[in-house]
Amino acid sequence: MKYKRVMLKLSGEALAGQQGHGINAQVLAQIASDIREVYETNVQIGIVIGGGNIFRGVAASAQGMDRASSDYMGMLATCINALALQDALEKIKIPTRVQSAIQMAEIAEPYIRRKAIRHLEKNRVVIFGGGTGNPYFTTDTAAALRAMEIGAEILMKGTKVDGIYEQDPKKFPAAKKFDKLSYLDVMNKGLQVMDLTAVSLCMDNKLPILSFDLTKPGNVLKAVKGDSIGTLVQ
Ligand code: GTP
Repeated sequence: MKYKRVMLKLSGEALAGQQGHGINAQVLAQIASDIREVYETNVQIGIVIGGGNIFRGVAASAQGMDRASSDYMGMLATCINALALQDALEKIKIPTRVQSAIQMAEIAEPYIRRKAIRHLEKNRVVIFGGGTGNPYFTTDTAAALRAMEIGAEILMKGTKVDGIYEQDPKKFPAAKKFDKLSYLDVMNKGLQVMDLTAVSLCMDNKLPILSFDLTKPGNVLKAVKGDSIGTLVQ
């Protein structure tokens, strides 16, 4: 394996499958089984999951809702997804711990960096809920931040697209896909991989980002092996 400790960022939408919102049990089971393939190779896995399948904070604030309030609702949505993923992983016998950036002691452990690292060392998959715990920050930024805090070697962003394209491949089928990019390319070209806060945090701390297609079974393992899939930003 190319990496020993990785941070996997899953978009909330990835859990929704074709239905577009909520949690699709079949899709969730597929993602869990993909994660198991990686787990079985003894790679340590941290996961940050978005909440867009349940609540899109930015969309609500665009419609006039207070941005901070809508972001807090989005953070709660990430905790729902974290518990769903924990359940799916534990059903297939993968030990997990959920840590939340927002205190909710009855539901999840609080986020404690050193404890998260200890869990990883004991081969538990650690799922980080609640984003960064602050409004105005995306779950991509949370993934970049947690990746650095736990000493992950790469941030692997699983999406519905197989990498970064010069234009939206759904609207422009002829758009060219990049295999490799620099952080500055991503920022200067305004490429839609992660928000600027997340990208610049990765750049400042030299954390590579791999954007890949999560919906294809087996891709998470390929990504961790270092196979050339998706787009690598470094
Ligand atoms: P080790 O001490 O390394 O063995 O870790 P551990 O996670 O097994 O021990 P701990 O006694 O801390 O946790 C036992 C279980 O309780 C685990 O499933 C934790 O996720 C859970 N847990 C620990 N702290 C909290 C908390 O503050 N809130 C909630 N809801 N669960 C917690």
